[in-house]
Amino acid sequence: MILTVTLNAALDITYHVDRLRPQGSNRVHTVAERAGGKGVNVSRVLHALGHRTVVTGLAGGAAGSALRRELATARLPEQLLLIDGESRRTVAVVDESAGDTTILLEPGPVVRPDEWERLLEHLDRLLQGAAAVVFSGSLPRGVPEDAYAQLVRLAAGHRVPAVLDADGAALRSALPAGPALIKPNADELAATTGLADPVAAAQALLAAGAEAVVASLGPDGLIAVTPQGSWQARPPERLAGNPTGAGDAAVAALTVGLVAGAAWPERLADAVALSAATVAAPLAGDFDLDVLRRLRPLVDVGPLSEPRSP
Ligand SMILES: Nc1ncnc2c1ncn2[C@@H]1O[C@H](COP(=O)(O)OP(=O)(O)OP(=O)(O)O)[C@@H](O)[C@H]1O
Ligand SMILES: [Mg+2]
Repeated sequence: MILTVTLNAALDITYHVDRLRPQGSNRVHTVAERAGGKGVNVSRVLHALGHRTVVTGLAGGAAGSALRRELATARLPEQLLLIDGESRRTVAVVDESAGDTTILLEPGPVVRPDEWERLLEHLDRLLQGAAAVVFSGSLPRGVPEDAYAQLVRLAAGHRVPAVLDADGAALRSALPAGPALIKPNADELAATTGLADPVAAAQALLAAGAEAVVASLGPDGLIAVTPQGSWQARPPERLAGNPTGAGDAAVAALTVGLVAGAAWPERLADAVALSAATVAAPLAGDFDLDVLRRLRPLVDVGPLSEPRSP
């Protein structure tokens, strides 16, 4: 079972309007609600691929109840810990005439110290049945600054490999705890290290304690910097669609490869094909199976720096 932990789980609301008028009243003709947050997206992808997964993290209030109901409808097993605060909602307003989307993000609850302690105990139990754990997304207010360091150490105590998808201080503080894998995107890599070159930045994060670094570079694919070698993998084509959640799909594929002990080039090719298939599907956490099957054999994977010819 792959456990995903979303500390700031959300209820994602999508409003469709014919045309968005910023200073006026807007009639919404379709409303959709889904459980969201990066770990939830990872679990959705794992579940669709047929892997056993459990969603956990923190949820509370009416939005927390609604997101748990949606997970039940989607048959995604969840063990979210209930807190007193109200889970955040995100609102995406899709303007159908302009073909663009405006997004509003609530800050989410303030987590109390006793709720954080309960979460550590809760995870201590859930980690007993986990083959790997994925920690994804931003930290809610009130949790300790070194939250991810504490969680990665907790997983290490159970010998469960930890995959971390975070950025900035939350990521930096967790590196000495030795996560098995981190997956920053290009902006997160630059913001976390202050280095413009992705390879140099990935090497710096490896030196700071991550056991492996896979950086996602949007349509350019992935680079991996690991003690076993460095590779890059590119999608055979640039897809049009919704790139939100493509990184979460990459995390899902990389975690499956980690649990299986697959060779790095294979893990990267799987991640590139699956994340491209996610771009081709309209909602984060969904993917297009035909695109996955078509692209997987066409992904180009090779060593990051070719040996120079004499
Ligand atoms: N337009 C695209 N066409 C094909 N593949 C893409 C495209 N955009 C992204 N990808 C694939 O998705 C992977 C992840 O994308 P990206 O680097 O944007 O992740 P991210 O910013 O972490 O996304 P998120 O956090 O929203 O899930 C890339 O490494 C690449 O393989
Ligand atoms: Mg991401």
